[in-house]
Amino acid sequence: MISLFGSKVGCEEMQEIQSSIEQQWLGIGKKCADFESMMAKRLRINDFVMVNSGSNALLLAVKLFNLPQGSEVILPSYTWVSCAHAIVLNGLKPVFCDVDLDTCNISRKHIEPLITSKTKAIMIVHYAGKPVGMQDIMDLGFPVIEDAAHAVDSKINEKYCGTIGDIGIYSFDAVKNLTTADGGGVVSRRDDFVKYARSIRYCGIAKSGFDTSKNTGRWWEHNIVDFFPKVIPNDICASIGIGQLKKLDEFQDYRKRIWEKYDKAFSKVSWLNIPKGPDKNEQHSYFTYFIRLNNDKRDALARYLYAQGIYTSVRYHPLHLNKIYKTDTCLRNCEKLNETALNIPLHPNLSAADVEKVISEIKNFGKQYC
Ligand SMILES: Cc1ncc(COP(=O)(O)O)c(C=O)c1O
Repeated sequence: MISLFGSKVGCEEMQEIQSSIEQQWLGIGKKCADFESMMAKRLRINDFVMVNSGSNALLLAVKLFNLPQGSEVILPSYTWVSCAHAIVLNGLKPVFCDVDLDTCNISRKHIEPLITSKTKAIMIVHYAGKPVGMQDIMDLGFPVIEDAAHAVDSKINEKYCGTIGDIGIYSFDAVKNLTTADGGGVVSRRDDFVKYARSIRYCGIAKSGFDTSKNTGRWWEHNIVDFFPKVIPNDICASIGIGQLKKLDEFQDYRKRIWEKYDKAFSKVSWLNIPKGPDKNEQHSYFTYFIRLNNDKRDALARYLYAQGIYTSVRYHPLHLNKIYKTDTCLRNCEKLNETALNIPLHPNLSAADVEKVISEIKNFGKQYC
């Protein structure tokens, strides 16, 4: 089966893991610190706080704003559930917003009608790594969280996505452009946010016993400053990340080539639409490629491809349609994507033959059914 998502790991990661094992140090330690400085350097920021998942990075990011309970946070419905969970788990209310069909990104025109006196923040997602129009959204005057889970290599005017808004988060789960098996990160242009994020990521314990024991001599006593779960990373995951960072640019070139092949193959196919690529001042991360059918054959196409050994999926099932988050709101584009969009394989483990097979089977389907 040709997989939809995937990561490529090898010798570089093995060597880093081996050195951690040789040093008999698996938990949070030097490798995490090294990965954090490498990420900070790459993103051209002062500090990068690594955590154990993108979902927990979101939880931490929303907490940093310290908003009054019940405040509303606007976010796209077309995103991963952790975005909304992070808002609810912080005692706030998610307000779901529509997205543009050709990017799956939110934009100012969809946000503005949702603003009320209770709106206190906006969470955006750079879907697939295509940058959201940040300036327009920041001009609305609310704090902005950038979910750059898909966008570790995306830029607007040479500035990395995730470092443009007030707080940014990244995901390094097993299928992301840069994987640590599981992991995430929080960044902010506000030093106090970064400092606080680092200080509470271990069950809200501000400092190690050694730091707090200077006056008492009791290094075993904690200084618990907040209620927060354990979201610290570990050196085995960080080792994978260090190995991955050495190859990220190479992976990105490969992803870009696959994206361009799909664009070329599908741009003139009458029954489907291709996603919008990067604008001139942007860099894209090419995390996932999605086609949109202009007929009602999407499910049939997915099943046809599955029968040919090609796995596809729809990312995402809009959150406002999910029972736990259900609202009366109609978000037309999200609902249209839910019926017509299909994410097709794009990752560094695809061979050229896999890509050709995906293209030819989609075209075969068209010849037979569209
Ligand atoms: C847009 C988005 N945000 C956040 C996450 C959560 O990341 P993680 O899987 O590392 O918890 C994901 C995961 O797929 C995602 O796609």
